[in-house]
Amino acid sequence: MTDAVIKCENVYKIFGPNAQKMLQKANGNVDAKTFQENGCIVGVNDASFEVSKGEMLVVMGLSGSGKSTLLRCISRLTDATGGKIFIEGQDLLKLNNKELINLRRNKMGMVFQSFALLPHKTVVENIAFPLQIKGIKTEDSISKAMDMVKLVGLDGRENYFPRELSGGQQQRVGIARSLAVEPDIWFLDEPFSALDPLIRKEMQDEFLRLQEKLQKTIMFITHDFDEALKLADRIAIMKDGIIEQLDTPANIVLNPATEYVKKFTEEVPREKVLTIEDVMDKINSDSSDLKVLKNEIIENVAEKILTQEKAVSVIDQDNKVVGSINPSKIIQTVFGGRKNNN
Ligand SMILES: Nc1ncnc2c1ncn2[C@@H]1O[C@H](COP(=O)(O)OP(=O)(O)OP(=O)(O)O)[C@@H](O)[C@H]1O
Ligand SMILES: [Mg+2]
Repeated sequence: MTDAVIKCENVYKIFGPNAQKMLQKANGNVDAKTFQENGCIVGVNDASFEVSKGEMLVVMGLSGSGKSTLLRCISRLTDATGGKIFIEGQDLLKLNNKELINLRRNKMGMVFQSFALLPHKTVVENIAFPLQIKGIKTEDSISKAMDMVKLVGLDGRENYFPRELSGGQQQRVGIARSLAVEPDIWFLDEPFSALDPLIRKEMQDEFLRLQEKLQKTIMFITHDFDEALKLADRIAIMKDGIIEQLDTPANIVLNPATEYVKKFTEEVPREKVLTIEDVMDKINSDSSDLKVLKNEIIENVAEKILTQEKAVSVIDQDNKVVGSINPSKIIQTVFGGRKNNN
């Protein structure tokens, strides 16, 4: 990949007084248990991956699996114990303090689980605050902040104080504040986890809408697999500091690499994640008159296909036939391969 915005090469984060020494001795073979017996906790274990421009990588895994630690290494809130991290080709660990502050102020945005709004400032003042720190004139910063207020759907509430807002609205202020700086790279650590399911769904939809418009390079942490499937271009699944699989949502559901990954996928309604292309036959068999687009989500066309007796032709955007799908394959996909179908 040439357009990697974030690149990690064999990144380790080990906590403990002898972390560096232990890591060197391990020679690339870090065993969490051995480390623990020697007073070290393994946070991130040999992470290598790239995130390309405009891509949303969702990091997913159970509590304690190392998600936040990985993000903190990449935003350099903490220093990795080993390995290399590049941001737009720049070696992150070689930046001096000034360069790092610059990078954080101008390129990176972060949203954390606790909204951390300033209680005595209004919505619009909260959003304008980081711009003012950057030295932008009050008037200009307020005008920019007002654009952000509109973008996250909070117009009319710009003069409210945080305590007058619901949790979801506060979260949106947090997101708007981070967006105001126009970061190219956006780190979000469980930004929706405190919200109830309805607001959460609303925020996810809004977030997708924003991303479509803004095309940021994003690392988004969640421990909710459904959220990961919905938002991600690719998903990295972590366990005990190790990235067990990094792949597209469809490939993770279709080909889980480990038992741990498989456990997450078992509960997933496959028809909501997979496209026709993921399950079609690549040959053109004798088919009915009905045609479906290859990138349709199965759920959206299942009913149509199930009314047919013969296989249905699958076409691409240029109307070219690229395969076929048998109604029985739809039934198999919907009812096979997962534990419960509620
Ligand atoms: N400052 C620290 N000192 C020692 N150990 C730490 C520190 N920060 C994190 N850890 C350990 O590193 C491991 C990974 O923690 P991390 O916070 O990255 O998990 P997480 O995947 O973000 O979990 P959660 O979903 O609960 O937020 C845990 O075992 C944790 O105890
Ligand atoms: Mg965390």
